[in-house]
Amino acid sequence: MTIIEGSSILVTGGGSGIGAGTARYLAQRGAKITICGRRKHKIEEIASSIGSNCRAIAGDITVAKDRESIVEAAVTHGDGLDALVNNAGNMYRLPLESIAEEGLLDIFHSNVIAPMMLSSLCVPYLTDSEGSIVFLGSIHNRRAFPGVSPYAATKAAIESLTRSFAAELGRKSIRVNCVSPGAVFTEINQRSGESTDSEALARLEEIVKLNALTRIGETEEVAQAIAYFIEAPWTTGTILDVDGGLGLGLTRA
Ligand SMILES: NC(=O)c1ccc[n+]([C@@H]2O[C@H](COP(=O)([O-])OP(=O)(O)OC[C@H]3O[C@@H](n4cnc5c(N)ncnc54)[C@H](OP(=O)(O)O)[C@@H]3O)[C@@H](O)[C@H]2O)c1
Repeated sequence: MTIIEGSSILVTGGGSGIGAGTARYLAQRGAKITICGRRKHKIEEIASSIGSNCRAIAGDITVAKDRESIVEAAVTHGDGLDALVNNAGNMYRLPLESIAEEGLLDIFHSNVIAPMMLSSLCVPYLTDSEGSIVFLGSIHNRRAFPGVSPYAATKAAIESLTRSFAAELGRKSIRVNCVSPGAVFTEINQRSGESTDSEALARLEEIVKLNALTRIGETEEVAQAIAYFIEAPWTTGTILDVDGGLGLGLTRA
């Protein structure tokens, strides 16, 4: 059974947003955290603000040799591996008539194929520790929004992978679960060139009207759900919405 205190956890995409919040939260609870991301300065800044429990390794999860270095760094830093948090992800949103094949290939590579390959690399270590994999799904699996089909399709794949991997890896005592957040203010839209910080925040504030709890979420509130899955010994193949009630389908005018 995994206890967060003293465990070794790899969080992909830990240089910003939910990944950074998760790394900080789990480190505060005594875990040895390894974070990765393509922008070295971002992950180094987060790691140094967290302290010596957090190691940063620059790398792109869509590149095979980078995946190997990332996993090796996590295993070395934490003396093994108890959990992989497949958090890194990108946004690609356009109306159907405007989508480009290259954009689709890129987003499926980063959001679906790379986490699959990374999970595969981690299986031997997670078998040794009887550990777990946590995926990040999305509110887009509960509510349909126009113009976001590429991203939504990747997150639908993630829910499917959660259940398939859980079925496949249970015999190795590896659990696989998924946290599906609602609206949290992070860098995801801004990094894709979609919008400025203020435009992204304005879009989220608009969504608040459809949110039962009438506010957007905080990264730590998603991290708490991730932590639950890392420790929950008899939970696998589960998808947990952490969305302030956005998925309920409220239609307040
Ligand atoms: N924010 C929300 O409202 C929301 C809602 C539902 C689900 N999610 C999911 O939550 C996860 C985290 O997103 P976020 O909102 O926190 O966005 P974010 O702030 O943009 O964080 C995503 C991180 O992933 C890293 N990343 C992207 N591609 C990568 C690659 N190929 N290799 C390594 N790292 C990579 C990025 O760093 P680099 O660019 O430096 O590599 C970035 O730091 C994503 O899976 C997202 O789909 C977010």
